[in-house]
Amino acid sequence: MVVKTGVVGLDKLLDGGYPDNSIILISGGTGTGKTILSLQFLLQGFLQKERGMFITFEQSKDKIIDQCARFGWDFEKYEKQNLFRIVTMEDIGIANILTQMKSNIEEFKPQRMVVDSITFMSLSAYSAKRLIDLDRTTMVELYEASRENSVSSEFDGLIVRKLLIDFVKILQKRKINTLLTSEIPRESVWLSRDTFSEYACDGVLLLKSVAMGTDLHRAIEIVKMRNTKMKGGVYGFDFQKNGIKVNI
Ligand SMILES: Nc1ncnc2c1ncn2[C@@H]1O[C@H](COP(=O)(O)OP(=O)(O)O)[C@@H](O)[C@H]1O
Ligand SMILES: [Mg+2]
Repeated sequence: MVVKTGVVGLDKLLDGGYPDNSIILISGGTGTGKTILSLQFLLQGFLQKERGMFITFEQSKDKIIDQCARFGWDFEKYEKQNLFRIVTMEDIGIANILTQMKSNIEEFKPQRMVVDSITFMSLSAYSAKRLIDLDRTTMVELYEASRENSVSSEFDGLIVRKLLIDFVKILQKRKINTLLTSEIPRESVWLSRDTFSEYACDGVLLLKSVAMGTDLHRAIEIVKMRNTKMKGGVYGFDFQKNGIKVNI
């Protein structure tokens, strides 16, 4: 059994789609298309009448709905049909994040899920180190605090891995097909594809963008995929009128 990715060329590269019951990491720099690729994964589910949940630490519901509308995807319609649920974590105290996720999963019983992004989620590891009041600190405050204290080296530790691995275990137990996005800062190695993901995820896709002259070229690399006869290499992709298409 495979799970269609929602992206035509990508299904072909993956011998049909993601493996069933898998947790896939979508890594890449900012603006490389991680959020859009993930929304397209949920859209594919709606077309098959599968419930999809989008958990965001980064954008408001309005922004997400608007982004979808630009590709002609009517996520409000799917919400009304009880196929789509969006959970925004922007203003939630860190101690409550896992609880919130679990209760939304129990209630909605999604078959597909996206967490955008675990970069923000893992900031709670930082707070554990610094003994910040978890109940009263929001993700945004924490993110700002971590930036002021240039935290990247502190992240490069066991605490981050432990938190994320525990989180992935929760997802695996419930057999929800999940995409986790992660932002890779250029100068930093924490949360890179060979630290966290090698342990915890079933697959890793890497999105890249390269400026050449006045053009921005986009590319996708399948770094790893469990149980899949995948095609290796780096492939170009484009944003088309109705979403991302991988060129193979
Ligand atoms: N309707 C569109 N047509 C073409 N490109 C788009 C469209 N909407 C967004 N993009 C491109 O998508 C990129 C952002 O994608 P996004 O998934 O939000 O990235 P990420 O989540 O990796 O930061 C931007 O660089 C933008 O150029
Ligand atoms: Mg994004």
